Amino acid sequence: PESSTGCSFEDCQDTADWLLSQTAVRPLVGIVCGSGLGGLADVLKDQEAFNYKDIPNFPQSTVHGHAGRLVFGTFKDRTCVCMQGRFHLYEGYPVQKITMPMRLFKLLGVETVILTNAAGGLNQDYEVGDIMIIKDHLNIPGFAGNNPLVGPNDERFGVRFPCMSDAYDRELQQLALDVGSELGYSDFLREGVYCVLGGPSFETIAECRMLNKLGADAVGMSTAHEVIVARHCGMRVFALSLITNKVVSDYNSEKKANHEEVLQTGKQRAEQMERLVSTIITRIGHN
Ligand code: 6GU
Repeated sequence: PESSTGCSFEDCQDTADWLLSQTAVRPLVGIVCGSGLGGLADVLKDQEAFNYKDIPNFPQSTVHGHAGRLVFGTFKDRTCVCMQGRFHLYEGYPVQKITMPMRLFKLLGVETVILTNAAGGLNQDYEVGDIMIIKDHLNIPGFAGNNPLVGPNDERFGVRFPCMSDAYDRELQQLALDVGSELGYSDFLREGVYCVLGGPSFETIAECRMLNKLGADAVGMSTAHEVIVARHCGMRVFALSLITNKVVSDYNSEKKANHEEVLQTGKQRAEQMERLVSTIITRIGHN
């Protein structure tokens, strides 16, 4: 199945070789921008950008709010590659295809991956505009067999049964708390558990109540798959959720989740998200 979806080791190597022949940037940090958060790529210096449609074996982005460009560049002295627009299960791709860019990152030389997303707040204490440092995840599609590592395991990427109890790097979480505090963001900086669902429909009230009871603080439609693949091939992972809306968990509420609200909140907090992430990047230690 892997060869037909264009995400075998050889396919990823071909894509990496092609990109490395087109750019002189040798990225140590890989970034994935969530819905409405693509502005992060724009603050990279000395940019070299590739449209997804021009990159061999690369999936195509279909969602409003996701640009569809892979941008190489630098923050201070840190070399980065940034996905402006990501792929989701609900677009209909196999989960192996959605996560192919993580394997590409690895073969480009990336050591640390930073992912952002827009998420609904399940935790009653969360407010719209909060930024949540992801400390762990619930991979609900994975419970039903939709894990990106299903299928033959290629040992050149990683082991058959990778550990996930250390998926989110603790040092980077602490670094984010420190940087957030220095920037004066502590009032809206949280730490919590992200739950991924397949989407594209938003949650019912009963589903929100269930997820809350299961220990999830935020719910979305991305990130966890990418984290699993990034950890499988040994990259360090840090991830942030922007709480763009509070989920509806009360039958008396008149509120309804919608994509426009998600994008709107993204715009309001985008600058702070960018400053937080870019400051973290300048402080990451590399071997
Ligand atoms: Cl409320 N649910 C899901 N699944 N994803 C979201 C969201 C909600 N808000 C932003 N992304």
